[in-house]
Amino acid sequence: MQTQKNHTYTRPVLYPKQRDAIFCKERYGLIEASTKSGKTVGCIVWLTEQALRGEAGQNFWWVAPIRDQAKIAFKRLRKFMPRQLYTLNLSELTLTLSNGTIIWFKGADHADSLYGEDVFAAVIDEATRCKEDAWIAVRSTLTATNGPIRIIGNVKGRKNWAYRMARRAESGAPDMHYARITAHDAADAKVIARTEIEDAERHLPASVFRELYLAEPSDDAANPFGVDAINKCIAPLSNGPAVVWGIDLAKSSDWTVALALNAHGGVCDFERWQGPWEDTISKIIRLTGNVSALVDSTGVGDPVLESLQKRGREQGSRYEGFKFSSTSKQQIMEGLTVAIQQRHVTFPDGVIVNELSSFEFEYTRTGVRYTAPAGLHDDAVCALALAVSAWNAMHKHTLRIWGGEDAAVDDTSKLAAAESAALDAISSDRWFTR
Ligand SMILES: Nc1ncnc2c1ncn2[C@@H]1O[C@H](COP(=O)(O)OP(=O)(O)O)[C@@H](O)[C@H]1O
Ligand SMILES: [Mg+2]
Repeated sequence: MQTQKNHTYTRPVLYPKQRDAIFCKERYGLIEASTKSGKTVGCIVWLTEQALRGEAGQNFWWVAPIRDQAKIAFKRLRKFMPRQLYTLNLSELTLTLSNGTIIWFKGADHADSLYGEDVFAAVIDEATRCKEDAWIAVRSTLTATNGPIRIIGNVKGRKNWAYRMARRAESGAPDMHYARITAHDAADAKVIARTEIEDAERHLPASVFRELYLAEPSDDAANPFGVDAINKCIAPLSNGPAVVWGIDLAKSSDWTVALALNAHGGVCDFERWQGPWEDTISKIIRLTGNVSALVDSTGVGDPVLESLQKRGREQGSRYEGFKFSSTSKQQIMEGLTVAIQQRHVTFPDGVIVNELSSFEFEYTRTGVRYTAPAGLHDDAVCALALAVSAWNAMHKHTLRIWGGEDAAVDDTSKLAAAESAALDAISSDRWFTR
């Protein structure tokens, strides 16, 4: 309990695993935890308590992957605190407590802003999405003060600084504390509903579920589909008839791929060619007949799509356009991942399997990027993803794409909506009693 003028601070109730993970005595606290297990809220409590114990002029930092995400934590803290207890600087994203300590909310995307000051305690939220540069910068600000830090987040593969730090902490390095909190721990504490965990397990790729809910990094984090899962989907070219086509139009140097699925999700036709647009359009019209197709309409695709649509009307075929952006590509590839991991799709060995096996994803500060390694093609993967997406739509399978707080963090409106829902859920907590 800490008294500030006529206010008495009471810590909100944290569940034991959450409290022990965050309020450890060691200087470095590493927490790998499930999504929605209370990392952010718990650490906002921790940082506030550090500041309440501090002296006028001392700085306390909250660092998130991007500034907009830090801003959300800023809003969450403001909602907790009685208005008389702080002053704000909205452009700097600082909150000065009545004892004169200053809590700063910063984005790791502005690494330059992370140097220079003495910091008395810090939190790095969603650490696996923050660049190592940011950690190095924050670490330097804690040197003179010997300040403590909490490094929290979901696990994201094994190729990142937070994973390495967590392994050092887990192996018992001096002054480091490690905790893993799974969704089941949070469910025991009634912070997550068990049905939500079961739902996620049903709909997410197994490796993604293990990372997000069980805090277990995946082994083949670089291949989103899973090499074993790809191999299990290999089957001879299926019999028709085709019920849907996915078409990836060639860009400057690559191939046009047209791929058809039958009613059981088996690839029953696969064509790959290069040539002038007029030939490509005629060939697509001939291949698809009156079966509908989802067509990549990014960049050069638009006029080609229009021409297909115009000519297609005459023979009763439907061509729908799909624009690849980093977000839409992520979503459609996540749909393909689910289909492959649950073996809802089969394909012949060869080009498709080679492209799928060499496909990579990369976790970046702004989300997941799906891509073929430099020099390799991904047109068969894209055509397959388009066909699977159209197949799913046709079979009214709702493809649940992971959204909410763990959506690509560049999608700030989605993020803000998720966070504000979380905020409403907790606004009943009383931090201070008069
Ligand atoms: N100890 C707790 N008791 C009750 N609700 C909690 C507790 N900790 C967190 N929550 C709620 O759980 C939700 C997720 O918390 P959050 O800190 O955003 O999780 P994370 O950062 O791990 O994704 C929020 O709605 C929050 O209010
Ligand atoms: Mg969080």
